[in-house]
Amino acid sequence: MKLPFMQYWDLLSQYIRPQKKRFALLSVLLLSSIGMQLINPQIMRFFIDTTQTSRETRALVIAAIAFISVALIQAVVGVSATYVGENVAWTATNSLRAEMARHCLNLDMSYHNNVSPGELIERIDGDVAELSNFFSQLVIRVLGNLILLFGILVALLIEDWRAGSAFTVLSIITLLALNAVRGIAIPFQKKFREAVADLFGYLEERLAGTEDIRASGAVDFVILGIYKLSINILKYWRASARRFIVVRFVAGFFMVLGIAIALVTGYYLFQDGLITLGTVYLIVTYTTLLRRPIRELTQQVENLQNIGAATERLIELRAIKPKILDGPGVEIPGGPLSLAFENVNFAYKEDEQVLEAIDFQIKPGTVIGVLGRTGSGKTTLARLVFRLYDPTHGRITLGDVPLTQTLLAALRSRVALVTQDVQLFQATIRDNITFFDSSIPDERIIEVIDQLGLTDWLQRQPNGLDTKLESGGRSISAGEAQLLAFTRIFLRDPGLVILDEASSRLDPATEQLIERAIDKLLLNRTAIIIAHRLGTLHRTSEILILEDGRVIEHGDREILAADPTTRFHGLLRTGLEEVLA
Ligand SMILES: Nc1ncnc2c1ncn2[C@@H]1O[C@H](COP(=O)(O)OP(=O)(O)OP(=O)(O)O)[C@@H](O)[C@H]1O
Ligand SMILES: [Mg+2]
Repeated sequence: MKLPFMQYWDLLSQYIRPQKKRFALLSVLLLSSIGMQLINPQIMRFFIDTTQTSRETRALVIAAIAFISVALIQAVVGVSATYVGENVAWTATNSLRAEMARHCLNLDMSYHNNVSPGELIERIDGDVAELSNFFSQLVIRVLGNLILLFGILVALLIEDWRAGSAFTVLSIITLLALNAVRGIAIPFQKKFREAVADLFGYLEERLAGTEDIRASGAVDFVILGIYKLSINILKYWRASARRFIVVRFVAGFFMVLGIAIALVTGYYLFQDGLITLGTVYLIVTYTTLLRRPIRELTQQVENLQNIGAATERLIELRAIKPKILDGPGVEIPGGPLSLAFENVNFAYKEDEQVLEAIDFQIKPGTVIGVLGRTGSGKTTLARLVFRLYDPTHGRITLGDVPLTQTLLAALRSRVALVTQDVQLFQATIRDNITFFDSSIPDERIIEVIDQLGLTDWLQRQPNGLDTKLESGGRSISAGEAQLLAFTRIFLRDPGLVILDEASSRLDPATEQLIERAIDKLLLNRTAIIIAHRLGTLHRTSEILILEDGRVIEHGDREILAADPTTRFHGLLRTGLEEVLA
């Protein structure tokens, strides 16, 4: 087993390694900026002491020039360090972000069902942002500040062992005291962050439901909720701010104490002629310099804890592996595909069987209509063919190739799935059709649209292919969204089409368009049509009826329709819409 620290290092070094040179440069810059902080007080001491003794102008001018040059170089080095540091951090975290996003997109649907998008955003962006500080500065800063602290104390010890040891003791006490109080604000900060997250969650949900909220006149109620959550945020912010004052007070107190000691000892040592006035200046300046490393070190202990937690969560997420993986890559034949379910069982959650002993075959080119009450497992069946889930028992073959033997990408290019609610993106019609694949020329898109008989429809859109759609398809009807999904399929030319009809009713004009488009779509393809309307059924040659996850009827449509003892016959008599709605 690896030590936890090694795990962190594995994760972090992976993103630092490609920028080794930049990282080395950053280390040099940060360390030299720290070193330079120690130089200038020395020059100043020389300056003061020279004015006291010789008043030799030449030496003074040189000292002044040196002082200014060091200060300037220090500023340039500081800016460069920040620049390089940010670069390192953003390069590293951006690739980490991209990798985490890709990872999440590849995880099984069963994982996504259990984890909210908000939670994943928090992982992909929140936790990764937490690490950015680590990448850019933290390691070097913690080390740097330790070196700076050590350097100052050694410099003080060299100047005067009494002063040096006094400050060493004082620094240790300060670090201990700060360490003791540093944690007092953390619980309130956590609560504060939770309160902010609550508000975001509330806003997200309410904004998504704007239409319903307005319709039911609940706007004031929603605003009241925002006030309540905001009051919570204020409460915890204030509580944590108050505690930070204590931390700052402790730090300030020891700082003032340190400077007082520096002044007093400096005074007496100077009086006794043991040190020069310049050295008194040096001791006081070094004492004030101590403030930063001490404060930063205590802060960074806290940062390290946050980073530890964030890294752990990321490592955990990365360790989750999709269970649905590529097979050895057996090729799926071209043209219309046969499909077979061999004794397939499936459950989303253990013990809740959704599909049971499904066993049927269809020949290439068959159009099969799947019927069943809501919740009978029709959509689930489609998801299994698309391999969004794997059966818990049995197997599915496509063109006589078991699904698990194929590459996922190959499978999904040969099978097309139009879901009940087509997902549209906030982008142009073109991008929604091509899925942002700019290599597909407009002519091809227009050709497909023409084949599907949608040219008139496209011409009615205000900017043609450039018409922007709103996310979630708010600017387009469910029927139109399905039409767009059809064009997506046509561009890919699959051998099996699964059409999960929208259960909402369509206006007659759109319905007609869809009918025509489906005719084109099914030409020379195998198809599963999950039908909610009678109209769709006339083109099917077989019918499969699901009930509670079992196939209760499967056969030739016309034979079933003619036999008064069948379910299908009953459905036709009572009216499909009434029974299945
Ligand atoms: N992601 C999921 N996680 C857990 N259970 C699910 C999930 N999706 C569907 N189910 C359950 O599986 C069963 C079958 O659902 P499915 O969506 O396949 O029905 P359907 O026949 O498509 O219904 P509809 O006609 O309303 O579209 C239902 O009991 C449903 O609650
Ligand atoms: Mg469904």
